[in-house]
Amino acid sequence: MSKTYSFPKDFLWGGATAANQLEGAYNEDGKGLSTMDLLTGGDHQTPRRITRQIEDNTPYPNHMAVDHYHHYKEDVKLFAEMGFKTYRFSIAWSRIYPNGLESEPNEKGLEFYDNLIAELKKYHIEPLVTISHFENPIGLTQEFNAWASRKMIPQYVKFAKTVIKRYHKDVKYWLTFNEINMLAKPLGAYMGGGMYLGDSEVFNNTEEDSTQLRYQALHYQFLASAEIVDWAHHYDSSLKMGCMMAYRMIYPLTSHPDDVRYAQYMTEINNFYCGDVQVKGKYPYFAQKFWNDHNLKLDITDDDLKLLQKGKVDFYTFSYYQSSTVTVTQDDAEKAAGNFFNGVKNPYVERSAWGWEIDPVGLRTALNQIYERYEIPLMVVENGLGAADQLVEKDGQYTVEDDYRIDYLHDHIVEMAKAIDDGVNLVGYTPWGCIDLVSASTGEMTKRYGFIYVDKNDDGTGTYNRYKKKSFNWYKNVIANNAIDD
Ligand code: BG6
Repeated sequence: MSKTYSFPKDFLWGGATAANQLEGAYNEDGKGLSTMDLLTGGDHQTPRRITRQIEDNTPYPNHMAVDHYHHYKEDVKLFAEMGFKTYRFSIAWSRIYPNGLESEPNEKGLEFYDNLIAELKKYHIEPLVTISHFENPIGLTQEFNAWASRKMIPQYVKFAKTVIKRYHKDVKYWLTFNEINMLAKPLGAYMGGGMYLGDSEVFNNTEEDSTQLRYQALHYQFLASAEIVDWAHHYDSSLKMGCMMAYRMIYPLTSHPDDVRYAQYMTEINNFYCGDVQVKGKYPYFAQKFWNDHNLKLDITDDDLKLLQKGKVDFYTFSYYQSSTVTVTQDDAEKAAGNFFNGVKNPYVERSAWGWEIDPVGLRTALNQIYERYEIPLMVVENGLGAADQLVEKDGQYTVEDDYRIDYLHDHIVEMAKAIDDGVNLVGYTPWGCIDLVSASTGEMTKRYGFIYVDKNDDGTGTYNRYKKKSFNWYKNVIANNAIDD
């Protein structure tokens, strides 16, 4: 017999996006170039390239993205029709400080978000703002290699104070950095850190990778986050400041004690290293050994450690797309796919067309794992299935019959409900790319996550019209019922 799971009364259902993957209008109304404006298109097999300036005849998918900048009213109306209670979006730093170094913000850039937020409020949708989602003005990268330098902290603080002061009456929930722990991964160096690691133009180049630089940059981001969290708490006590992790639910491939210990170690380094700093305000006990083992010499002062204590977040948010399986005992285990995480194939789960492992139960386990460590409110702010959708005509309307997406989301929502039943304080859910947008890792449009289809192809052609997929009405019902059947 089927069971119905109800969600708490004020549960924040919604969706999530990021400015550089959504807005387009990369050089309009005074916007400066961001790091993501210099990332070329790629695909499943071809990595994106980082170029030092805009090259002729080269595709840059983020320049136009899905043109939300000119469609935001239509997009928000569709979100409202689905019944969104919240909407997570990010602010393009280079719209506000085009080069990064200016002392005065770009008024036109601020006005865009005034208008977007007003539109959301019109439909009683609670904004959830990511201050920095995988981009910074390229000027800061050119000036001091972005987060490789301590000088980045006051630049971030200036930007964050500007937007918090401007929007705090309407925006109560803020996330300081998207997936901060991804900065510890090679792919995160440019995206999360805005850093050039060497001369190579290939995104995710592991040959020129530098663990020293990435962990140093991470420390500077921790400081920037702590400074703004502390400041915001004093500036307006009604504000809720959160962190955001790419949560990696890690399993040992076998019950061999060495595999089990390795899975525990990987959980500590991938998840708790950053989570502890942002939630507990201090580096975890295992950090020193990690630094020693990797020969890292980090610039961390006593004042820094005091600041981290002052900048503890109020809530913990994370993305969850897949689990990850690791081993040190099975040399021949086949590698699994993912954007940031590398593990081996789990024999018990299915995979998406992009090879990402599909594991709804892993979300319940992750929610319990996080909550038992931190005991603060949690939100799942990214989750979803990247798939190649086919637009079809049905009853005179264009749509996508995305039952595969409905199945994926259904199963994850059921597991969230079970976690709430377990006692986890989960307060919101914003699935990723609620409207189709540019893939971060590959630059494709073909890899779609949305409830809303955007008619744009990988080569940039298309009408940019919006169409409701089958999952649109399905999600609308879930929100209206505030419940799901298993
Ligand atoms: C997360 C990022 O890592 O994964 C998003 O926060 C990204 O920006 C999402 O788009 C999905 O990854 P991808 O590579 O499929 O776009």
